[in-house]
Amino acid sequence: MWAEKDIKKVLVSEEQICNRAKELGAQITEDYASKPPLLVALLRGSVPFLAELIKHIDLDIQYDFMDVSSYEGTESIGDIKIIKDLDTSVKGLDILLVEDIVDTGRTIRTVCETLLHKGASSVKVVTLLDKPSRRIVDVKADYVGFEVANEFVIGYGMDFDQKYRCLPYIGVLKDECYQNIEE
Ligand code: IMP
Repeated sequence: MWAEKDIKKVLVSEEQICNRAKELGAQITEDYASKPPLLVALLRGSVPFLAELIKHIDLDIQYDFMDVSSYEGTESIGDIKIIKDLDTSVKGLDILLVEDIVDTGRTIRTVCETLLHKGASSVKVVTLLDKPSRRIVDVKADYVGFEVANEFVIGYGMDFDQKYRCLPYIGVLKDECYQNIEE
């Protein structure tokens, strides 16, 4: 595969992700049995996870997308801005926010507050990865795929300067990949 030369290590394999998505889907199915949620996926990182997760939610769910500004390179940039809003009204709906990774927590805090402000009945968060050691804002995801250490990760939707999103696993890049981009 083209990216193999850039990968220092694989943290979570495709098989592990699929198995965990099955477990999360079953839990979500149980928890929302009386009223299916609207899944709100944050572009673009959460798309592969959303696609896997919805196969395992056995409810009449719908999904929509939001795009918020987040990272340039490996560092956070200032405040979160909404670049693309939802097409669906959230009034009276139970929302399940789908995220690729919760890092400082700023993104999910801002988006959750925005959705509640717009009249959502409830907002919960499902994230493929959680990096609790980097938390700045006191927030907790309701459903977590895997907890990871304080390392920048790529793959399964997550990018480094828009690269590596399409890898079917989650990995860590070799140090020289960051140096190359700075030159
Ligand atoms: P937060 O607002 O700091 O929690 O950042 C969340 C967003 O930052 C995620 O949706 C990702 O787009 C990005 N992000 C945070 N950590 C990583 C990482 O290790 N790899 C790739 N993107 C990351």
